[in-house]
Amino acid sequence: MNETLKTINSLRTIHGDFSSEEISSEDIETILQASIKAANASARQSYSIIVINDKEIMEKLCGYSGSRLLLYCVDYTRLSDVAIHLGFQFERKDLTGFITGSTDTILAAQTAAIAAKSMGIDSLFTNGIHRGEPNRVYELLDLPREQCFPLIALVLGYPSEKITTKKARITEGLIHYGKYKRLTAEQMDKLVQKYDDPSEQLMLTDQWKEDFEHYLDWFYVNWSQKGDTSRIDNLLKDTGFLKK
Ligand SMILES: Cc1cc2nc3c(=O)[nH]c(=O)nc-3n(C[C@H](O)[C@H](O)[C@H](O)COP(=O)(O)O)c2cc1C
Repeated sequence: MNETLKTINSLRTIHGDFSSEEISSEDIETILQASIKAANASARQSYSIIVINDKEIMEKLCGYSGSRLLLYCVDYTRLSDVAIHLGFQFERKDLTGFITGSTDTILAAQTAAIAAKSMGIDSLFTNGIHRGEPNRVYELLDLPREQCFPLIALVLGYPSEKITTKKARITEGLIHYGKYKRLTAEQMDKLVQKYDDPSEQLMLTDQWKEDFEHYLDWFYVNWSQKGDTSRIDNLLKDTGFLKK
């Protein structure tokens, strides 16, 4: 395995337990410069990255803190401002703009996580920014209210203790060669068992054992419908990406 594949295979999430060791400013700059090398549509780089050092602000934003938090926002403000500066108009207030912008944004964010890991720095992606009142994110960071959507937070830091466990990934029904193929009943059973196996570490909780036969029973009944999606819908409307 080459060094790049080793880095990708060693990626893992630190669920909040980062140590107090700080990442140097030089290392953060290296990570950011790698991040923005990700592919992007029409050379627009339709995102902004807010770099946060203040742990209190990190907690307020997403409920987690580490050495740094990089907030990745889908953002067309820069392009709009330059258009006005040149006497033109440019707006991407539509779903196409959001989808293309999200693609640019996520590619840059994942590239940062890989770059960080290659330097021995761990990470946590969190959508904690979407829990609670979205206004706080805008107010805390002076984000533009339109055409700017905080998509994902990437918390970076060193882990507080050595974590050796590694979450598995499902493969059943995931990669399709040539043509799409739905799972057979046998493959579905295999998938169900994989989620039930504690050594795979795919389950979010082991509480399900009290009331359910399988982890996925618990998942479909108690988890998959959880969460209020109207907050995101409203934010997409407020930022202009979705029609009101
Ligand atoms: C969109 C997104 C949101 C996530 N939000 C959280 C979160 O709020 N808290 C957390 O501990 N992990 C969060 N994660 C990390 C996942 O739990 C983690 O990637 C998954 O369990 C697989 O573990 P691994 O990254 O260690 O392989 C999030 C990941 C993604 C992609």
